[in-house]
Amino acid sequence: MGLVNIIMTMCNSFFLVGVVLLCSWISRGNGSVSYDSKAISVNGQKRILISGSIHYPRSTPEMWPDLINKAKEGGLDVIQTYVFWNGHEPEPGKYYFEERYDLVKFIKLVQKAGLYVNLRIGPYACAEWNFGGFPVWLKYVPGISFRTNNEPFKAAMQKFTTKIVNMMKAERLYETQGGPIILSQIENEYGPMEYELGAPGKAYTEWAAKMAVDLGTGVPWIMCKQDDAPDPIINTCNGFYCDYFSPNKAYKPKMWTEAWTGWFTEFGGPVPYRPAEDLAFSVAKFIQKGGSFINYYMYHGGTNFGRTAGGPFIATSYDYDAPLDEYGLLRQPKWGHLKDLHRAIKLCEPALVSGDPVVTPLGNYQEAHVFKSRAGACAAFLANYNQRSFAKVSFGSMHYNLPPWSISILPDCKNTVYNTARIGAQSAQMKMTPVRKGFSWQSYNEETTSYGDDTFTVAGLLEQVNTTRDHTDYLWYTTDVKIGPWEGFLRGGNMPVLTVLSAGHALHVFINGQLSGTAYGSLENPRLTFKQGVNLRIGVNKISLLSIAVGLPNIGPHFETWNAGVLGPVSLSGLNEGKRDLTWQKWSYKVGLKGESLSLHSLSGSSSVEWVEGSYVTERQPLTWYKTVFNAPNGDEPLALDMNTMSKGQVWINGQSIGRYWNQYKATGNCDACNYAGWFNEKKCLKNCGEASQRWYHIPRSWLYPTGNLLVVFEEWGGNPYDITLVKREVASVCSDIYEWQPTLVNWQLQSSGKVTKPLRPKAHLSCDSGQKISSIKFASFGTPEGACGNFRQGSCHAFHSYDVFERYCVGQQSCTVPVTPEIFGGDPCPNVMKKLSVEVVCS
Ligand code: GAL
Repeated sequence: MGLVNIIMTMCNSFFLVGVVLLCSWISRGNGSVSYDSKAISVNGQKRILISGSIHYPRSTPEMWPDLINKAKEGGLDVIQTYVFWNGHEPEPGKYYFEERYDLVKFIKLVQKAGLYVNLRIGPYACAEWNFGGFPVWLKYVPGISFRTNNEPFKAAMQKFTTKIVNMMKAERLYETQGGPIILSQIENEYGPMEYELGAPGKAYTEWAAKMAVDLGTGVPWIMCKQDDAPDPIINTCNGFYCDYFSPNKAYKPKMWTEAWTGWFTEFGGPVPYRPAEDLAFSVAKFIQKGGSFINYYMYHGGTNFGRTAGGPFIATSYDYDAPLDEYGLLRQPKWGHLKDLHRAIKLCEPALVSGDPVVTPLGNYQEAHVFKSRAGACAAFLANYNQRSFAKVSFGSMHYNLPPWSISILPDCKNTVYNTARIGAQSAQMKMTPVRKGFSWQSYNEETTSYGDDTFTVAGLLEQVNTTRDHTDYLWYTTDVKIGPWEGFLRGGNMPVLTVLSAGHALHVFINGQLSGTAYGSLENPRLTFKQGVNLRIGVNKISLLSIAVGLPNIGPHFETWNAGVLGPVSLSGLNEGKRDLTWQKWSYKVGLKGESLSLHSLSGSSSVEWVEGSYVTERQPLTWYKTVFNAPNGDEPLALDMNTMSKGQVWINGQSIGRYWNQYKATGNCDACNYAGWFNEKKCLKNCGEASQRWYHIPRSWLYPTGNLLVVFEEWGGNPYDITLVKREVASVCSDIYEWQPTLVNWQLQSSGKVTKPLRPKAHLSCDSGQKISSIKFASFGTPEGACGNFRQGSCHAFHSYDVFERYCVGQQSCTVPVTPEIFGGDPCPNVMKKLSVEVVCS
């Protein structure tokens, strides 16, 4: 019995003063959330809940309503988000809840759309977010040790958690108050950490659980990946598959808090994607094994604006191959295929919430899971786990064809409405269309050494995070090296070699103001070694090391111990004396760039210096600021900057940072074609090998004025700003790829209504964006076409009227529907062969 249930039972039985107060608080707004072994109940009703993660600071408040509506239309009941502590408390005790961090506004918008909220307060988030969501100042609280049984840490965690819970209560946002929040999360995936830390970890878990429960939210708490979550907290599963999972007590429901829809991108890595068929399969498998709550992580991934990306090396795009893409557009067919899955699952809901399934084998790799309610509802899931072959199974009095690695859903235990490997939804090819090119730039050269007003000098090398407190990515280390006229290398010998060992993440080496070389690590190994011949002259040489942090790690134990920057040793070899150790010399430090201290990214700051104009603008020059002004393009399509000719740096629009770019870091990996069938992991399906990990950078429309927008770029390495292009993202073409006997929900409704007796054929639905029309037919074949959307090919069987039909039904329309039957294409082109329709139409 859940905590709230227990309290409600007490409420019904006693009328003691204290209890009465508690009861009246809980029943205000008439909401209640409880749970049992089967499911979460909201207001007394057991529910199969479909949820999706949308992290509010990864989009703009202007985007939120549309994202939430698209989530609702996609069949979601719940929106899940972390709470991002470092965004809300940038300095101790100074809180921020505005703009992208307006948590209350976000939750109220979800409520307005009629959806629930799963609030993961953490306050540790992980989430590929800078420092896992912890404010960096927390590292400097005396005696702190993160995420363990440590008093200073626990005090800070309790203070922030209480602050958030009180804020939610004050705004009446818990379900028990009539609000949308039905679940809260404390900590995040602490199980593995507890295992590592032993007894103090265990004590911390107990403390965190009690601290959370004592806050009296009136709704259940969950802990993900935490097998020993103390009662009444529900332990939940995260992963690519979670059907194997069971909660730690028989009276808790089986919940999946992170069903990974794809994976994050790192600079230097290829872009992961997860086929919709496998994602749908994993979800259907979870539901058929008795699961009742599933959350897509991410449903909309969005953007790591500013310096919010974790890491190190997490890319600015957090697209995640989610059902809504980074820009908030539908990712098709994933969005549509999941929407159909959700409708199929909801048709089964009365049977699903009634109890455990009866499982029957249907073959070596095939099973039926049948759910029945006392009222007579029956729902069946027919699964084929075979990764390679189709299966023909008999179930009830009928035969069913199951594609490899797929599950069919029969909401009446008879008719298939959905198969996870048969996509009825359209797919879409997107394009990035240039709208502004050839900006007229002005440039400003950044300083290339650390000498100046606000530098300081110490003997030896300083750790970077302690020095910058993460107020900037940049830290200059500068030292002098004297070279006497007697050095052998001056008379035609090899150049001396500078060796720099750094804890990460990237390093530019300047010798006497000239860029001499660059080195960087990777997410897997952020450490780096720079080892290169350097050009030194007689007399005093300035060696300036610009060390760059590319996001602080978001995962791992003991956040208080993590390092970045040049920790040494630093040495020079190839001198007459052999090797000279520079580690313990005097080093001068400067935190951040001159342009940062002048706020060159902002309107006021950028007018405080003289910029170089026109043909004097420096190209391919390291450490250069560029600025230009442009007018916003018409329309409402999402916008991005194509940064392909730049190397590494940051971009700002009207003073707002759109994030770090690093186009120079090319993706290495294996981008071979990938099959949906078979176990998925984040390395299985990859794209962009050999190209920039991220080429386009999202500019939210709401950050633009109609005219006079200030675009500022800081380039570290050297690039060509003249090819920076503003693009809009839009649908290029849409496709449908449907088998002639493929199940559809619409047909099922007709069939089960008894109005039709014969099985019905599916239909192809094609629809361009509003404002677009279908302008031509790129490909159409009813028969045995091959390939996928974007590269369909005719097979050996092809109905000759395939094109004509689409010309007639679709061209000039915004959307069209065509039944997949031989008659419509002029007769059966190859009887007794399983046929399908593949079509691609151009939208413009
Ligand atoms: C999970 C974690 C999430 C996110 C995810 C990977 O383990 O809970 O916050 O980091 O991994 O995207």
